[in-house]
Amino acid sequence: MAEEWIRIAAPATTSNIGAGFDIFGISLEEPYDVIEGRKIPSGIVISEVSGPGSDSIPTDPESNSVSIAAAEVLKRCGADFGIEIKIKKGIRPCSGIGSSGASAAGGAFLAHILCGEKLSLTEVVLCAAHAEDVTSGGFHADNVAPCVLGGFTIIRSYEPFEVVSIKPPKDLGVVVAMPDVLVPTKESRAVLPKEVSVKDLVFHVGNASCLVYAMTTGDLGLIGRSVKDAVFEPARAHLVPHLKEAESAAMSHGALVSFLGGSGPCIISFYDKSSHDGAPIAESIKALYAENGMKCDTWVTGCGSGCRRI
Ligand code: HSE
Repeated sequence: MAEEWIRIAAPATTSNIGAGFDIFGISLEEPYDVIEGRKIPSGIVISEVSGPGSDSIPTDPESNSVSIAAAEVLKRCGADFGIEIKIKKGIRPCSGIGSSGASAAGGAFLAHILCGEKLSLTEVVLCAAHAEDVTSGGFHADNVAPCVLGGFTIIRSYEPFEVVSIKPPKDLGVVVAMPDVLVPTKESRAVLPKEVSVKDLVFHVGNASCLVYAMTTGDLGLIGRSVKDAVFEPARAHLVPHLKEAESAAMSHGALVSFLGGSGPCIISFYDKSSHDGAPIAESIKALYAENGMKCDTWVTGCGSGCRRI
């Protein structure tokens, strides 16, 4: 009898969130990838890749985030079977909302379920982060951690690895705007400074600390004031056309704060769902790009759960 197919929804995530480069992340309700898999006697086979940007996604299991992460889980569990995988991308690659992270986390989570959930979720995060290391040019877990665990995640330490997840305030709305430009994470990491000044370090620690406090207490005003980045977004701003104008447009339409999502090009705006509608923020950014001859996709969404079986 053929083995049962398992379907996993792996959400988009926004990382960095101002001062928390490679540390902070939030899982989003939308968009998300769907990763399907079933046991086969041995090896990993990617039999289908579909959805936005799927032409650029390798089907060689040695280079694909889903299969690299899944293979790591199989290895850790000592599995005596392989997996056939189908990938339905909902998150375009090179977007800045954790496209490779969702693939990696979805692949790791799928293999975790097929292995009988023997690993801790932190180990699943590590297997997914291994895939990020191979495909994105750096061992960073700030997309895969929220993608697996859900909520607002903080990586306290990479060595040894420790991550915590807290529930974001229920009224924290998120608008994602994705201009039609590709920014590969490797390139976006290559433009970063190798060192930071004590002045910038002090600025980041203050803002990062207050952001965590505001997330736990539900102080949306303080969240807006604490998403600040003196180092990484300024170094990357030139990679995203009209970034500053888009952020200003969002602020003029009710955003608490607007900033570069992860390694870009997505522009993320937070808003207070209890007093605002996110649609005008999305429309204002879309209109700005249209005026400049560029397409821009938007999602009016919120903070979500981690990978889940659907
Ligand atoms: N923290 C990573 C970066 C996220 O900014 O490079 C990549 O999506």
